[in-house]
Amino acid sequence: MGLPKMAAIVVVVALMLSPSQAQLSPFFYATTCPQLPFVVLNVVAQALQTDDRAAAKLIRLHFHDCFVNGCDGSILLVDVPGVIDSELNGPPNGGIQGMDIVDNIKAAVESACPGVVSCADILAISSQISVFLSGGPIWVVPMGRKDSRIANRTGTSNLPGPSETLVGLKGKFKDQGLDSTDLVALSGAHTFGKSRCMFFSDRLINFNGTGRPDTTLDPIYREQLRRLCTTQQTRVNFDPVTPTRFDKTYYNNLISLRGLLQSDQELFSTPRADTTAIVKTFAANERAFFKQFVKSMIKMGNLKPPPGIASEVRLDCKRVNPVRAYDVM
Ligand code: HEM
Ligand SMILES: *[C@@H]1O[C@H](CO)[C@@H](O)[C@H](O)[C@H]1NC(C)=O
Ligand SMILES: *[C@@H]1O[C@H](CO)[C@@H](O)[C@H](O)[C@H]1NC(C)=O
Repeated sequence: MGLPKMAAIVVVVALMLSPSQAQLSPFFYATTCPQLPFVVLNVVAQALQTDDRAAAKLIRLHFHDCFVNGCDGSILLVDVPGVIDSELNGPPNGGIQGMDIVDNIKAAVESACPGVVSCADILAISSQISVFLSGGPIWVVPMGRKDSRIANRTGTSNLPGPSETLVGLKGKFKDQGLDSTDLVALSGAHTFGKSRCMFFSDRLINFNGTGRPDTTLDPIYREQLRRLCTTQQTRVNFDPVTPTRFDKTYYNNLISLRGLLQSDQELFSTPRADTTAIVKTFAANERAFFKQFVKSMIKMGNLKPPPGIASEVRLDCKRVNPVRAYDVM
């Protein structure tokens, strides 16, 4: 066999073995960082002691990471003029928080197992631990993602908006290979955390240009929201009943016409929608919700970057590594 041919085979085999193209595996860090879950658990538990939204912030970061160029840690890259156009500048990421918590987790992970655990994987496992620590299900998170060396600000338009119709929401999830069941289950993450009033205040007064409040919003809850929303920037609990617990109450709220965002309420209230029955199933059966939530989180966590994007295990989640030593996804 001639040298060029052999070289070609070596390249092809190397591409096939390239870790980011390989299937994710729950055992990915079994030998290189066996203590990873405990290190992350420790920092997230600590963060929750001073910030009861820490869990909500972390899972939202993972969602916003995965919907833009796959789960590649791209959301964490900060602006570098002429080099990185940060996704944090995209309108859907305007109020996103929790990057400081990610930095703390990364610091603890780096001191335990230097240079092996990607920021994208840190977002994935932190989300699982956040859900678990808030009373939700525990599951084994497939690992082995790599961090991108680029951000994709224009790609943030993939993210759904709070005033989107059900058709629009389904479309954006379908673009990512996620169906109506995934949409309803993943929206269940609005069982904790907060939203600023600007994202639902139209529903309180002048809904969609009708001059009247949203008829799918319970009037008593509406008046409570009006009182709470002293400014558009004020943050209000998604779940007025159990604001920090990961439970099925979100779905019971929707049935009581107490969804906070239009995009939440539409899952239940859109006439003849397939999502209404799914909301009812989860509202009646928390085990069914948890089981589907785990499935849908794994599906979302599997979203891959487009081929050919330079990747690495970032050392600082906010910046690409200074030395160009990386694979190609
Ligand atoms: C279905 C379409 C979705 C829409 C339209 C949507 C929209 C929003 C909006 C507008 C906020 C408030 C942001 C702010 O005030 O700055 C928010 C917060 C949040 N979202 Fe979503 N979201 C969606 C799906 C998801 C999914 C799939 C997850 C996770 C699996 C998620 C997790 C969260 C969490 C936990 C918060 C609270 C964050 C905090 O307290 O800082 N959302 N979402
Ligand atoms: C950015 O995201 C958009 C929307 O998903 C996609 O069409 C585009 O190819 C992405 N660009 C890069 C450089 O990955
Ligand atoms: C808002 O109004 C527009 C135009 O009248 C209509 O097409 C759209 O379906 C309305 N959205 C909702 C959620 O009612």
